[in-house]
Amino acid sequence: MKLKQIVQATMAVTALIAATAQVQAAEVEVLHYWTSGGEAKSVAELKKMMEAKGVTWKDFAVAGGGGENAMTALKARVIAGSAPTAAQIKGPSIQEWGKEGVLANIDAAASEGKWDANLPRVVSNIMKYQGHYVAAPVNVHRVNWLWVNPEVLKKAGAKAPGNWDEFFDAADKIKKAGMIAIAHGGQPWQDATVFESVALGVGGADFYKKAIVQLDQASLTGPTMIKTFDTLAKIKTYIDKDAAGRDWNLATAMVINGKAGMQFMGDWAKGEFTAAGKVAGKDFLCLAAPGTDKAFTFNIDSLTMFKVKDDQQKSQLTLASAVMSPEFQEVFNLNKGSIPARAGVSRAKFDSCALKSMDDMDATSKSGGLVPSFAHGMAIDSAKAGAIQDVIAKFMNSTMTSQAAVQALAKAAKAK
Ligand code: GAL
Repeated sequence: MKLKQIVQATMAVTALIAATAQVQAAEVEVLHYWTSGGEAKSVAELKKMMEAKGVTWKDFAVAGGGGENAMTALKARVIAGSAPTAAQIKGPSIQEWGKEGVLANIDAAASEGKWDANLPRVVSNIMKYQGHYVAAPVNVHRVNWLWVNPEVLKKAGAKAPGNWDEFFDAADKIKKAGMIAIAHGGQPWQDATVFESVALGVGGADFYKKAIVQLDQASLTGPTMIKTFDTLAKIKTYIDKDAAGRDWNLATAMVINGKAGMQFMGDWAKGEFTAAGKVAGKDFLCLAAPGTDKAFTFNIDSLTMFKVKDDQQKSQLTLASAVMSPEFQEVFNLNKGSIPARAGVSRAKFDSCALKSMDDMDATSKSGGLVPSFAHGMAIDSAKAGAIQDVIAKFMNSTMTSQAAVQALAKAAKAK
């Protein structure tokens, strides 16, 4: 069922149940899906900060990478008339929820904290619905990374890849040396994560924008998209047979412990390396996915605020302000693998991968290489994104040809 229908159909029930479903005073309930090692450490910092301010943290964690399970749980709660105080909802979905009339206006926190001045426009625009802040950004994740174990490369006699030829050369050598070349988890959102980096690396930022953001039919079915799927098909041959259903952090663990050489994943993977005590540039490498060093796929996590009872508004605004504080943005992102969303946070404690991300975001925002991640809900509405993700997953799990895939993709791009 579509979000709109769900919410409309249950407005009456909502009103009835609302009275019995109140949260306690000075409490915030936060829905998120940050349950891996690095993610749990990150969110624990917010809990600590809220409790230091006298606000009880009610954790509403729903496991499942990419957040699909969490969104299902959220819809159920809104239907039941007991929306949480905040939920990790991103990108165009914020607008979808805004249209339902269930989001809270947090302009008071935003004007007090001068959010307009402290956030890049690309971030603040996403946080607003009809000109009012309804969400607070926690970070900027970069998706187009390749995580590499240099020990594995060394053992295989391979070098760190800077382009597709070098990438497949390294993959061959790792495979020949008896290790897994590409760590991957066969889940639709992970397939989509690899796909978007491949499309960006094969076609460049302009192609990515035309095909994946604007959903231009000719670009979706043209030779560059065919080449994208051909490259994806080749990548499949370096993934181990046990990948089906594997969680992303378990795939990252394979790179951490040297079982596998490389993983395409956003920089929440770095949170896992960090939590395992590994050092960037020494124990692991963060390389731009092949062919994407002049581009940056952004994925901005944010806590979107739901309408709450009058006596809960103060706690909600406290949460919003805490999220945007430089102290939180520093400690959260040191653990999460991402970079602060706001200006005015010291770079001093960040590692070489984070500094590269900060510099590259800045450079690509001027060059036109800064693009929204489709796989992480930043580029297109959820119905189209879901339909496109299904096509990619089908391609990854069958013998579908690239030709058939681009046709299916073009059709999926029209989903409503
Ligand atoms: C992303 C999200 C990240 C991380 C990852 C794995 O979509 O933005 O914060 O949680 O999924 O679940």
